[in-house]
Amino acid sequence: MSKPVLQVKNLHKIYGKKNQNQYHALDHVSFTINEGEFVGIMGPSGAGKTTLLNVISTLDDASEGTIEIAGTNITSMKQNQLADFRSEQLGFIFQDFNLLENLTVYENIALPLSLQGVSSKKIKPNVEKVAQRLGIESILKKYPVTISGGQKQRVAAARALVHEPAMILADEPTGALDSKNAKSLMETIMDLNENHDVSIMLVTHDPLSASYCQRIMFIQDGKLYKEINRNSTREVFHQQILNVLAEFSG
Ligand SMILES: Nc1ncnc2c1ncn2[C@@H]1O[C@H](COP(=O)(O)OP(=O)(O)O)[C@@H](O)[C@H]1O
Ligand SMILES: [Mg+2]
Repeated sequence: MSKPVLQVKNLHKIYGKKNQNQYHALDHVSFTINEGEFVGIMGPSGAGKTTLLNVISTLDDASEGTIEIAGTNITSMKQNQLADFRSEQLGFIFQDFNLLENLTVYENIALPLSLQGVSSKKIKPNVEKVAQRLGIESILKKYPVTISGGQKQRVAAARALVHEPAMILADEPTGALDSKNAKSLMETIMDLNENHDVSIMLVTHDPLSASYCQRIMFIQDGKLYKEINRNSTREVFHQQILNVLAEFSG
């Protein structure tokens, strides 16, 4: 039996104060992601994808409902507990890499562990292991400004993984990459999922990137609209994704 890594129940998000114009960005959403799953979130612009990611990643708070990550209910946590929880249990990959320019690649990857106060002696083998996994051992001494976009995103992926979080949350990780680097990154992320049991939730509007997922949840107007699973080849799944997206524009 697979264990849930993320359980979202009746999640509701309202923007705007009472007596003002309120916007219901998430409308009582419920779903579960199990350990080791690779799930994509898609939907038209304004559907609530970023809101969903921000609320799950504890960057924004829910108006109603509960979120459990690795068995912990984060909706009842206090701010300082949340910050600790986030830095220990979650890994993030963003579209614009978010690397610190004045730190080397090694120091960027080490950051989640240094922030947790792990000793530099313990950090080293972890950084080396994850760098090897992502094929960036040779650039550890470089600064971000001297490496390519594709390499930057691998560094960001390594930083997201180094502290072995319960789950990785990725928001348009291929958005700033050309198609060759995007494909290569998605193959790497898929490998992390399939061969290293990393649980991943990926928000993307790119059907090709999404085709690497096992399951896609489509949202529209803050609600779950449809869910599809990859049962055959990635090429077939890509076409299925395009078909659902066509329903939105139609
Ligand atoms: N801080 C905010 N205040 C008010 N409305 C917001 C805010 N953030 C997002 N929204 C609205 O919530 C809806 C969902 O936004 P978002 O989650 O960014 O959608 P997506 O990422 O799917 O494009 C949109 O209609 C957007 O205008
Ligand atoms: Mg968005």
